Amino acid sequence: MLPGLPADIDQIKGFLHPEEAAALHRWARTQSAAGPLLEIGSYCGKSTLYLGIAARDNGSTVFALDHHRGSEEHQLGEMFHDPALYDAQMGQVDTFKEFRRNISRAGLDDTVVPVVAGSAAAARHWQTPLAMLFIDGGHSLDAALTDYRCWAGHLQRGGILAIHDVYLDAALGGQAPRAIYRLALQSGLFECCEQVESLAVLRRL
Ligand SMILES: C[S@@+](CC[C@H](N)C(=O)[O-])C[C@H]1O[C@@H](n2cnc3c(N)ncnc32)[C@H](O)[C@@H]1O
Repeated sequence: MLPGLPADIDQIKGFLHPEEAAALHRWARTQSAAGPLLEIGSYCGKSTLYLGIAARDNGSTVFALDHHRGSEEHQLGEMFHDPALYDAQMGQVDTFKEFRRNISRAGLDDTVVPVVAGSAAAARHWQTPLAMLFIDGGHSLDAALTDYRCWAGHLQRGGILAIHDVYLDAALGGQAPRAIYRLALQSGLFECCEQVESLAVLRRL
């Protein structure tokens, strides 16, 4: 196990394959020496923890962007709905409490800066160049395109763009993350570094 990870990391709710998690950590370790990282889609903080322990070692920061209201598939009645993450009084998904708990317990309060907002709203006045951007937010085509268009331009040269749930075979998963992966490559601004399970990693030229 990676040093700094909580012993119960496997109990933390999330959607990362262990090899994807290890790859995220590996890229975050090199990139956080060059600047801050930003992830879109933190959910309960599983991916944030892998980014966070790497950033902490370099005295860097992870901006963890999520409105914490869940994606389409987390809503009541949908396939990945979790009743434990539903605020019945508000009638809404709420993952922020669980996210905060996991970040605090891992000792990452000084490394992880939560940005509790929609992706487009948070991007509106954003000016900080990023050394790494991890996109794992909404998986509709509209949401994925918004994330790419709002945030990819903030990557500094040499910065890493990691996109989760990129599947070649549509039978394995939705194609919106793959659409932005292709858009990035077609732009001529990115080169492909590696693919680990469904995690695609590109570098800003
Ligand atoms: C698949 S989950 C992220 C999983 C997480 N990266 C992990 O490893 O466990 C997607 C998250 O994106 C968030 N999300 C979806 N659309 C969003 C948007 N437009 N702005 C901000 N967050 C969004 C949801 O609230 C949800 O928590």
